[in-house]
Amino acid sequence: MKKIAVLVSGGGTNLQALIDAQNSGIIKSGKIVAVVSNKPGVFALERAEKVGIETAVISRKELGDGFDRALTEFMKTHNIDLIVLAGFLAILGGELLREYENRIINIHPSLIPSFCGDGFYGLRVHQAALDYGVKVTGATVHYVNEVVDGGKIIMQKAVYIDPDDTAETLQRRVMEEAEWVILPEAVEQVCAQM
Ligand code: GAR
Repeated sequence: MKKIAVLVSGGGTNLQALIDAQNSGIIKSGKIVAVVSNKPGVFALERAEKVGIETAVISRKELGDGFDRALTEFMKTHNIDLIVLAGFLAILGGELLREYENRIINIHPSLIPSFCGDGFYGLRVHQAALDYGVKVTGATVHYVNEVVDGGKIIMQKAVYIDPDDTAETLQRRVMEEAEWVILPEAVEQVCAQM
């Protein structure tokens, strides 16, 4: 069983999909042992507490340059094998990326290389897709390296855009049809290969 830490910043619906996938047996080669948020008070932390998973808040606001060091320390002391960014909206720095090369994965709500990189997160990604006028979008799970959203792609799933979609309706459908499906599958695949 690989030890998994999930990093979150908000509502945590992707975290919930991972917890559910663990319970239903889709994830069987790893176990979520910790959930870390860079913001206090977010609902994702409540989701973890509710099912008895250890939680921590590690904030760049408070730690400044010590942020990556603190995250790295946490991962090492908890013997974490795989770090999953599930709606984690801070950009990770050198130390953690070096220590956990090929052991950090992220879910992004578009088909990379479209609508990704610095500044593309949450609803902004879906608004950008609507503004461009693409007819298909989706989600991507990829390895994390020093290029924002630039690491090797693990899994993607496409979602069709409806003519009357808003950023909000599109975000919800991309989550339901793509993110909550491929993130658990990718986590199982990566854990099984480790
Ligand atoms: C998700 O749509 C995730 O793909 C996105 O933030 C949302 C978090 O929702 N992540 C990014 O935009 C990363 N660049 P959640 O907290 O309910 O999982």
